[in-house]
Amino acid sequence: MVHQPRPGGPQRSVAHGIARNAVLWERVRDLLGSADEGSGPRQVVDLGGGTGGLAVRAAELGHHVTVIDPNPDALASMHRRADENNVADRVVGVQGDTIDLGDHVAPGSVDVMLCHGVLEVVDDPGQALEAIGDALRSDGVLSVVVAGRYAAVLGRALAGHLAAARTLLEAPTGDAQARSPRRYTRGEILDLLATHGFTAESVHGLRVFADLVPSSVVDTEPGAQTALVELERAVAQIPELTAVAGQLMVVSRRRN
Ligand SMILES: C[S@@+](CC[C@H](N)C(=O)[O-])C[C@H]1O[C@@H](n2cnc3c(N)ncnc32)[C@H](O)[C@@H]1O
Repeated sequence: MVHQPRPGGPQRSVAHGIARNAVLWERVRDLLGSADEGSGPRQVVDLGGGTGGLAVRAAELGHHVTVIDPNPDALASMHRRADENNVADRVVGVQGDTIDLGDHVAPGSVDVMLCHGVLEVVDDPGQALEAIGDALRSDGVLSVVVAGRYAAVLGRALAGHLAAARTLLEAPTGDAQARSPRRYTRGEILDLLATHGFTAESVHGLRVFADLVPSSVVDTEPGAQTALVELERAVAQIPELTAVAGQLMVVSRRRN
């Protein structure tokens, strides 16, 4: 069985998809903890949460989750997913975006903000981070996941698209000429967060190898899915390798 491929992207099997996302989910689970433990249910906002894959898992841990996304179709899928997983009472969907975040979330009310795959596509990432900073409690936590620029350069070069690799290598973050979603180096995302009042507490590289390994290996080699997840886990905090990770996950807090 395969996922619907991204336009122009490779087809990946379900087993491969699970391996690609395993470390991300482990990190989010560690960040949130279970509502049964210690701090109880937390107020979580998944900004640009799309179809709710992460939001539903967060709600399954017992937390209250608000998904804010401009796409009504994605929100409809999110509601279906929440129903199917019996967490509809803990998940709210709101049609909105980074610009009007303050209309939907009271200032200083959010314990954990997830902003995954969003700073690549918003008009103004700095504005988004300022709005997130206003929404978070003073001890609140922000989890940002962004696409890694050097991984995309590597991917294009390995596919033989050498001129495209060179263009991407030299494209500054947010270059409208690039006509593709923004991608960040480790330094660029850390600088952006620092400029808008966040102190990074951890950086994890996600999909360091998972986007380079074909699904045929994951599906046919005995134990390959487990081995891939273990490898991803092992390299996620090695700076030399996270520099070429498909995604970078940065957990940070507001500077008070
Ligand atoms: C690549 S998807 C990421 C979805 C999900 N967060 C994930 O990690 O799988 C980007 C999401 O950002 C949403 N989005 C686009 N522009 C946005 C904006 N200005 N503010 C908030 N979300 C936005 C899209 O509708 C989409 O659901």
